Amino acid sequence: MDRLLFVASEAYPLIKTGGLADVAGSLPEVLRQKGMDVRLLLPAYQHVLESIDPPALVADMEVDGDALRILSTRLPGTKVDTWLLEHPLFSQRPGNPYHDSHGAPWPDNADRYMLLCRVAAAIATGEAGLDWRPDVLHCNDWHTGPAIALTHLREQRPRTVFTIHSLAHMGLFDRATFERLRLPQHFWSDSALEFYGQCSFIKGGLVYADYITTVSPTYATEICESPGGMGLEGLLSQRRDRLVGILNGIDSQVWNPASDPYLVQTYSQESVADKARNKAALQADLGLASLDDRPLVGLVGRLVEQKGLELILPVLADILACPVQLVILGTGEPRYEQQLKAAATVNPDAMAVVLAYDESLAHRIEAAADVFLMPSLFEPCGLNQLYSLRYGTLPLVRSVGGLADTVVDSNPHTLADGSATGFVFQRPDAAELLAALRRACALWYEQSVWRQVQLNAMSQDFSWQQSANRYLQLYNTATDS
Ligand code: ADP
Ligand code: GLC
Repeated sequence: MDRLLFVASEAYPLIKTGGLADVAGSLPEVLRQKGMDVRLLLPAYQHVLESIDPPALVADMEVDGDALRILSTRLPGTKVDTWLLEHPLFSQRPGNPYHDSHGAPWPDNADRYMLLCRVAAAIATGEAGLDWRPDVLHCNDWHTGPAIALTHLREQRPRTVFTIHSLAHMGLFDRATFERLRLPQHFWSDSALEFYGQCSFIKGGLVYADYITTVSPTYATEICESPGGMGLEGLLSQRRDRLVGILNGIDSQVWNPASDPYLVQTYSQESVADKARNKAALQADLGLASLDDRPLVGLVGRLVEQKGLELILPVLADILACPVQLVILGTGEPRYEQQLKAAATVNPDAMAVVLAYDESLAHRIEAAADVFLMPSLFEPCGLNQLYSLRYGTLPLVRSVGGLADTVVDSNPHTLADGSATGFVFQRPDAAELLAALRRACALWYEQSVWRQVQLNAMSQDFSWQQSANRYLQLYNTATDS
């Protein structure tokens, strides 16, 4: 049986700030069910230790002079053996894993995630004193990039896979920080971790990994060119033969409208008319007018430029005038939060904005809305549009990254052949977004056509089965070579 060490900085339900946690919380369990012997390695954040039963001790370790412990727990809702790296840098840090309450990155993030990398590399190369070592080390995003670079220093090493969930975060630190981390000096090179005078953690994965994956086929193509590659397009196109796009799957138990415990009314393809009760409940909960003569548009996500806020804000009044009601759940940049909140105050019947991280409300919006808005400027995969499809909530997306790979625009042709699942616009342009929304509204009034598109959307299979098989194939290719 192949042994897999899967390393991430967050995994649902223990700790989540975005889609990475959804993936790290669901893919390892599917791989385990398919026969892999999996260990998930996560930092033991204070919040995690407070939310679980006392974990078992796996090992006391010393890594680079730092005493730490590896604890073992089960990822809740799965049978995945989860190893927690316990050290004060993680376990005595309340709040968000990456930043303080004002959104400023923790000043010692380089030290914190380098510790995770050193421990991952020690386990991977059999230098941690454990009686388990992996055949494959699979790391995710910048927090874990140097784990791959460190692992490749050893002759006796597992095969390595590095997944890019987003290139927007590269883990960039200055030269002084690099020196403080006491990495091998040859890592300070353009062909290693150095990136325009800084140390880039993500390059550890991109330069050294046996295989690089990213979370959709289209994003794999986009990052080999400018601007998608964000300055790394040269390196990525050089490594094109080792770069694979594998679409994310969704946890079809957590995101299932037929059994979702957060909903006032569960529903399935056979009872999709029942979805309306969720809309009525959400309108009441958020103080919106209880109207059933116009679509309800939902948006859940980080309120940052990536998510297309610059396309929404200039045409907010036109959006509401379609007419629609609009519900937004998210946290992010203060300027976006303030503008959205102000607009909701002026339009209390039509618009509600909740500036919070709220798992329950995210599910209720997916179930209640008619249209899900996701006009991202770039989107490596995107999970919310996949949840929306499953909930019969038609996604309105820009044709980019994983959104382009997963949503089929409704037009006469796709409506006729039954492939339409949502609404897609091309350019990052507010007028194009508005035109797509107007098309969506017009279709909403044709209730039987709308119902058919909902059923098309709900019958798409974005569960992990196929994508997990592709990871298994990749692990096999890597270990066979
Ligand atoms: P990204 O990882 O870029 O933020 P994704 O669409 O891949 O985007 O994943 C976002 C995940 O985070 C989804 O599961 C979404 O429901 C969740 N999410 C984002 N913001 C919030 C919020 N404010 N409250 C609850 N869930 C949220
Ligand atoms: C990142 C991306 C998002 C992707 C998620 C999980 O946060 O922004 O598009 O779905 O990772 O892979």
